[in-house]
Amino acid sequence: MTVSERIEQLKTEALSAVATGVSTADLEDIRVRFLGRSAELTEIKKSIGTLSPEERKEVGRSSNLASREIEAALGARTEEVAAREQEERLRAEAVDVTLPGVPSQRGHLHPSQIVIDDVVDFFVGLGYRVAEGPEVETDYYNFTALNIPEHHPARGEHDTFFLDEGLVLRTHTSPVQIRTMLSQEPPVFVVCPGRTYRNDNDPTHTPMFHQIEGLAVDRGLTLAHLKGTLAAMARHVFGEDAEVRLRPGYFQFTEPSVELDISCFVCGGTDPNCKVCKGAGWLEMLGAGMVDPSVLEEVGYDPEEYTGFAFGMGPDRMAMVKYGVPDLRLFFEGDLRFLRQF
Ligand code: DAH
Repeated sequence: MTVSERIEQLKTEALSAVATGVSTADLEDIRVRFLGRSAELTEIKKSIGTLSPEERKEVGRSSNLASREIEAALGARTEEVAAREQEERLRAEAVDVTLPGVPSQRGHLHPSQIVIDDVVDFFVGLGYRVAEGPEVETDYYNFTALNIPEHHPARGEHDTFFLDEGLVLRTHTSPVQIRTMLSQEPPVFVVCPGRTYRNDNDPTHTPMFHQIEGLAVDRGLTLAHLKGTLAAMARHVFGEDAEVRLRPGYFQFTEPSVELDISCFVCGGTDPNCKVCKGAGWLEMLGAGMVDPSVLEEVGYDPEEYTGFAFGMGPDRMAMVKYGVPDLRLFFEGDLRFLRQF
């Protein structure tokens, strides 16, 4: 077989390979096989110098022609195949933007948080500021500054979790009163929601629970302001028909101290078998009072010039009442079947 015949044969082989190539990767392999650096046709071209002058001319011409023809066929076929590949890729990656999305599950608020938000919203609406304090508190802020000195029996009622070096888990949010007054001059109008801790665990007590403290200090504040404010709050949280009554109470840091009851918003005091108020017609809601002058003195306020009222409530208890939950522990066990009901 002459060299020219071999070239012709290679060309035919290459062209039929190109015609059956179905992917751009195939076609690239074919290019390497027939036109690459070690392809037979390339070897033939390299050896042209060793041929006789007549042969040289003939082989040079036909090998160049063959390469160009193979090149052209490859180019055309590649274009075709690449277009088809692109189309297939687009089809495979197509997104139907009209399909409905996968709905993500909506979270929701914890029942205590619902009440906390509701109470805080009410006071913010009156112009109160939200203040917070640490859950790990010093003995001084949690007790002493609130007129509960060391060794006073009132400390025993708090079932305190003691930490090292005079620190405690705060047993109430009242220390935030002290921190607030020490950080500013009157007038003070703050609400202080937060977690509190007592070593107690039964259907109506959990070691961690929430409180919302409120404090107002200004010139001329009286018990009437306290009662009016809390009555308006009760109507906001429990409905327009809610009424409040004050009973005498006792707290170290208020004088006089009161406990505030709210009329039963389920039966309004009309059902002796009411499950919520047990026929009493009233529900205990919070402790409050006029800030004790010794507390004002402790933070450097002049009790001759300023008076104040304070209150502390348990939003978890309020949520139990509001939603008819019999056991407080359910609130903090994290059982989603319980929590999803709110
Ligand atoms: N700190 C009290 C408690 O945990 C609740 C309380 C009562 C707060 C009277 C007050 C208040 O601010 O005036 O039992």
